[in-house]
Amino acid sequence: MEVFRTAESMRNWSRAQRAAGKRIGFVPTMGALHEGHLSLMRVAVQDNEVAVASIFVNPTQFAPHEDFDAYPRQFERDAAMCEAAGIVAIYAPMASGMYPENFSTYVLVEKVSEGLCGGSRPHFFRGVATVVTKLFNAVTPDRAYFGQKDAQQCAVITRMARDLDMGVEIVEMPIVREPDGLAMSSRNAYLSEEERVRALCISRALFAAQARMEAGERDAACVKAEVLQAMDEVTVDYVELVDADTMRSVETIEKPVLLAVAAVSGGTRLIDNIKYTPSESLVRVER
Ligand code: PAF
Repeated sequence: MEVFRTAESMRNWSRAQRAAGKRIGFVPTMGALHEGHLSLMRVAVQDNEVAVASIFVNPTQFAPHEDFDAYPRQFERDAAMCEAAGIVAIYAPMASGMYPENFSTYVLVEKVSEGLCGGSRPHFFRGVATVVTKLFNAVTPDRAYFGQKDAQQCAVITRMARDLDMGVEIVEMPIVREPDGLAMSSRNAYLSEEERVRALCISRALFAAQARMEAGERDAACVKAEVLQAMDEVTVDYVELVDADTMRSVETIEKPVLLAVAAVSGGTRLIDNIKYTPSESLVRVER
């Protein structure tokens, strides 16, 4: 497995792969890898001739008061996990190379980045869209893989890739959960045993809401109120039911929706979500 530290060396490698007729699958990460990342890597390896991962803790998606300095950095461990998953090249740029002095160009994806996490973390999606653009420019992938855990991030990147003709297919993969339901996240490492147990009310609330919608509930306010009530062991940031494509709030569940939540357990901010598509038969009965 090769490790590239500059955009130029990464791009040269990618160019050679493409010249040899190989398609490139790409999994962008900030390291601190877990089973969720590995699930993306396995599919990238399976569906493309070569698969690349990036490891870069991106400063522009953290606000000054957030956990940029504390974010776990464990390159050797992460690199070994990538290799075991079948990744053949890692792009691990240096911050000074990614953001040289006088860096002044950002990518802003309007509307779809505005609610949910964009409301609580206004700097976040500009940083994500900018760094993903830079990573795509270096790796030049055919396909890039992202987890549904960050569903709004997936929507933002999908929109960006389409709007800017990036020629990269964005593949969204399902959330990977711990056996007790907690969505896997690098930030779970911050949780004490007690905070982790309290955090379980998040996935419990989402699964209960899913059952309600499957049973025919179509009123978004009712679903949200129940989720809010069930998330009684954490500090809720938001509970939102939005159109899965536009990320705009809905009042009635009649198209594919995203039920997304953010909450704090101890000092750790966690996000989670489910997607739900109303079944034809239930919609017809309601009408
Ligand atoms: O999801 C992440 O880990 C990050 O937001 C990403 C896409 C690697 C950009 O820094």
